[in-house]
Amino acid sequence: MSETNSVNGVNGQKIALVTGANKGIGYEIAAGLGALGWSVGIGARDGERREAAVEKLRAAGADAFGVPLDVTDEESVTAAARLVEERVGRLDALVNNAGITGGGPQEPTTVDVNRVRAAVETNVIGVIRVTNTLLPLLRRSPSPRIVNVSSSVGSLALQSTPGAETGPVSVAYAPSKTFLNAVTVQYAKELAGTGILINAVCPGFTATDLNGFRGVRTPQQGAACAIRLATVPADGPTGRFFDDEGEVPW
Ligand SMILES: NC(=O)c1ccc[n+]([C@@H]2O[C@H](COP(=O)([O-])OP(=O)(O)OC[C@H]3O[C@@H](n4cnc5c(N)ncnc54)[C@H](OP(=O)(O)O)[C@@H]3O)[C@@H](O)[C@H]2O)c1
Repeated sequence: MSETNSVNGVNGQKIALVTGANKGIGYEIAAGLGALGWSVGIGARDGERREAAVEKLRAAGADAFGVPLDVTDEESVTAAARLVEERVGRLDALVNNAGITGGGPQEPTTVDVNRVRAAVETNVIGVIRVTNTLLPLLRRSPSPRIVNVSSSVGSLALQSTPGAETGPVSVAYAPSKTFLNAVTVQYAKELAGTGILINAVCPGFTATDLNGFRGVRTPQQGAACAIRLATVPADGPTGRFFDDEGEVPW
């Protein structure tokens, strides 16, 4: 494929931006979309790790390009949107994957409130900031998709089900994902009828830096659900929450 075709998404090539794609689940979401023939922006704040990821993806045959991006920084997000616009002109899928736990411990009665603030700033406000800044580029797509990488620990239904696996007591990370789920529903309501489909996904307990590699799923397994929702057809779901087993209760 020529550089021009690749850059402009000619010949039907789809274009995605994945946030936090330098490692872990985000990297594998990018790799999976790249393997499907998509052009993939690798959104990441650390320059060295971002370029290493781009090189690795290109070596595997993916059409990847680096996008400097800190989701908590307004200027960085604006610059990222400008870069994507200049390089590829539109977006077919935005995968809001970047996320942090906020660090531990997170018991409600003793938490350092800065942990709560940090988790919400990245996992919720970062998603809203990135989504709204990239929305004009998504609106240029015939089939725009937004995927918010959430977690089943954000499910209030599961949190209030005795015996359900919901991780440690946490007043920062888990509620930040509950907030993200609620935000996803509100976007779906506003965007209903526009053709933009937006859903939340849970990757499952995946071995990454986020949990000291204690997860039991591989990053490729963790990426699968996000890839599926980024590529759903026009009659696909919106405003819903999925993992590999199906729908997750809010
Ligand atoms: N692993 C699990 O078991 C699990 C389960 C459920 C949900 N999730 C969710 O899956 C997503 C990916 O997590 P992961 O497990 O792959 O963790 P990870 O390996 O720690 O990756 C997190 C990614 O987010 C990026 N990031 C964090 N803050 C950012 C910011 N302000 N701006 C831009 N990028 C930022 C990190 O970039 P840097 O390298 O620059 O820090 C990194 O690329 C997260 O939303 C997480 O909550 C994970």
